[in-house]
Amino acid sequence: MNMLDQFLWVIFPYLCITVFIIGHIYRYRVDQMNWTAKSSEFVEKKQLRIGSMMFHIGVLPVIAGHVVGLGIPKSWMHALGINDHMYHIGAVYIGSFFGILTLLGMLILTSRRFTKKNVRRLSSFSDLAVNVALLLIILLGIYSTIVTNAVEPSFDYRTTISVWFRHLFIFQPDASYMQDVPLSFKLHILSGFFIFGMWPFTRLVHVWSVPLRYFRRSYILYRKQ
Ligand code: HEM
Repeated sequence: MNMLDQFLWVIFPYLCITVFIIGHIYRYRVDQMNWTAKSSEFVEKKQLRIGSMMFHIGVLPVIAGHVVGLGIPKSWMHALGINDHMYHIGAVYIGSFFGILTLLGMLILTSRRFTKKNVRRLSSFSDLAVNVALLLIILLGIYSTIVTNAVEPSFDYRTTISVWFRHLFIFQPDASYMQDVPLSFKLHILSGFFIFGMWPFTRLVHVWSVPLRYFRRSYILYRKQ
């Protein structure tokens, strides 16, 4: 393992996670009033509605797929009766379907942000950068799932990337698991971590303000007089 590998697969991920945590605490304390994704709905509604719906419907299953694929060891899956073939079919077909939905949504949102004059004028540099970064990450993810998996069928990310990923969180980082990982996966993961580092300083903070209580609140009762 050379120094670059140690940096990319040990120092860089920890750096992004640290900035993610400390950045959120800092932003919450210092800039709570701007904790939002500034709305541009009053400038353009149609593309926002469709792009945002596609992106959010796609990204939730994609996140769930990441939790399962990266978080659950292969042997546990086998114990549950899910063999490699079944897993692969699910990951590739279901993953690609929702990945492409996420990509189409993001393409609509990004083209809207760059090409609609009034939306662009309302956007900060970080708004534009988040869109471009997400687009790149999603493209690399889909490319890895559809193309790299097909071109290099012997590569198994569950015995390499997933093990490396879990080792980070038990504080036993081991860059050697990433040594023979194909480039598209490597770029996907590095850009994925990078966006976690950007997160607290961008509109992405709105994710933590989803009004979940809204779903559990009592209905408003309307009474006649
Ligand atoms: C930060 C760490 C991340 C890691 C280690 C990671 C890892 C992976 C892996 C291993 C795959 C291939 C799945 C397969 O072939 O079945 C994948 C696919 C994908 N990733 Fe990531 N990813 C990360 C972050 C992200 C982020 C931030 C996004 C943004 C939305 C993202 C979006 C996608 C998409 C759209 C796909 C293709 C569809 C799918 O398999 O769900 N990833 N990722």
